[in-house]
Amino acid sequence: MKFAILGAGNIAQTMASTISKMTGIESYAVASRDLDKATEFATKNGFEKAYGSYEELVQDDEVELVYIATPHSHHYAHAKLCIEHGKPVLCEKAFTANAKQAKEILSLAKEKKVFITEAIWTRYMPSRERIQAVIDSGIIGDVTSVTANLGYAIGQVERLVKPELAGGALLDLGVYPINFACMVLGSNYSEVSSTAIITDTDVDSMNTITLSYADGKMASLHSTFMARTNRMGIISGTQGYMEIQNINNCEEIRVYNSNDELLKKETFKDQITGYEYQVEACVEAMKNGLLECPQMPHAETIKVMELMDSLRKEWGVIYPWDETDN
Ligand SMILES: NC(=O)c1ccc[n+]([C@@H]2O[C@H](COP(=O)([O-])OP(=O)(O)OC[C@H]3O[C@@H](n4cnc5c(N)ncnc54)[C@H](OP(=O)(O)O)[C@@H]3O)[C@@H](O)[C@H]2O)c1
Repeated sequence: MKFAILGAGNIAQTMASTISKMTGIESYAVASRDLDKATEFATKNGFEKAYGSYEELVQDDEVELVYIATPHSHHYAHAKLCIEHGKPVLCEKAFTANAKQAKEILSLAKEKKVFITEAIWTRYMPSRERIQAVIDSGIIGDVTSVTANLGYAIGQVERLVKPELAGGALLDLGVYPINFACMVLGSNYSEVSSTAIITDTDVDSMNTITLSYADGKMASLHSTFMARTNRMGIISGTQGYMEIQNINNCEEIRVYNSNDELLKKETFKDQITGYEYQVEACVEAMKNGLLECPQMPHAETIKVMELMDSLRKEWGVIYPWDETDN
C-alpha cells in the first residue's frame, strides 16, 4: 500500500513514524503547502516523494491511500480534493467542521465509489473488543452508566482556540468521550443535555454532556483544553464496574465487583503508537472492496457530527461554514 500524508504537521509525524514500523505499508509521498517543509519531512521519514502542494499529491497515480492530517476546518476541502481525484482517504477527527460537510463528503465518496473513513483511532484499537468482551461476559452485570473525561492543558494551541480553524474542546477532545459512550451504550440516545464554558474567542474551552437512553441508561462526559484530567472511562453495571485507564489510548482495564475488589486487570503494551490499527483497518476494508470501515461506519460519523452541531448551537459556538451552510 503506497501511503501518502496530506499536511506535514504534528500528527503527520506520529503517523509517519508508525507506518515506518508497519509491514506492507510503504512511506510513499507527503505534501505540504511548503515544498521545503515537505522535502524535510520526506527525508527525515524515508518518503519517496515530496510535494509542495496538496493538488500535486492527489495527481500522483501511484498514491493508494491519503491520510488527511490538517486542522478540522480544512478536512472538507481536502477530502473533496482527494475524492475528486479518486484517492481513498483516512481523514483525521473531527471528520469535518459540521454535519452538513460530512454528509456532502460521504455522499460524494459513495457516488464516485471511493473509500473514505474517519481516523478516530479508538474505534479501531484492540482494546475496544477487549472492553466489549468483559461487558459480554456479564462479570459487571447489566451496564447502566458510563462516565468518561478527556482533558489536556493545551489552551495556547492555535487550532484549539480559533473558530476559523473549527476550534474548541468539543471537536478536538470531546469526540473521544462521545465515541467512548457510543461504543459502549450505542448512539441511539434519546436526550442530550450539556453545559459549556465559552472563551473570549467564542469556542468552548470545556464542556459536560449527558446522554440519556430510552432504556434508562446514561452517559456523563467531560472534555476540556484548560486542564489535564485523568482521562478515565468508567463503565458501571448492576454487579460491578470497570475502569478504562485513558480513553484516548487505552493502557489498562481494571474490573471490580460491587465490593470494590479488583477481579481482573488487562494491560495494553504491544502497539507501535496505536495509529497502526486504523491503517490496518483501511487496508482490510479496501481489500474486501468496501467503501467504509465496519469499525466506524459512515452513519456513525454523521451521528457524532450531528450531535456536535446540536451542542455547538446550544452553546452559541458558530463556525464560518455554519453561517453560510446552514
Ligand atoms: N488521533 C489523535 O490522537 C490526534 C491527535 C492530535 C491531532 N489530531 C487531529 O489531527 C489533525 C491535525 O492536528 P495536528 O495537531 O497535526 O495539527 P498541526 O500540527 O497544526 O498540523 C496541521 C497541518 O495542517 C496543514 N494546514 C493546512 N492548512 C492549514 C491552515 N490553514 N492552518 C494550519 N495548518 C494548515 C499544515 O501542514 P503544511 O504546512 O505541511 O501544509 C499543518 O502543519 C486535527 O484534525 C486533529 O484533531 C488527532
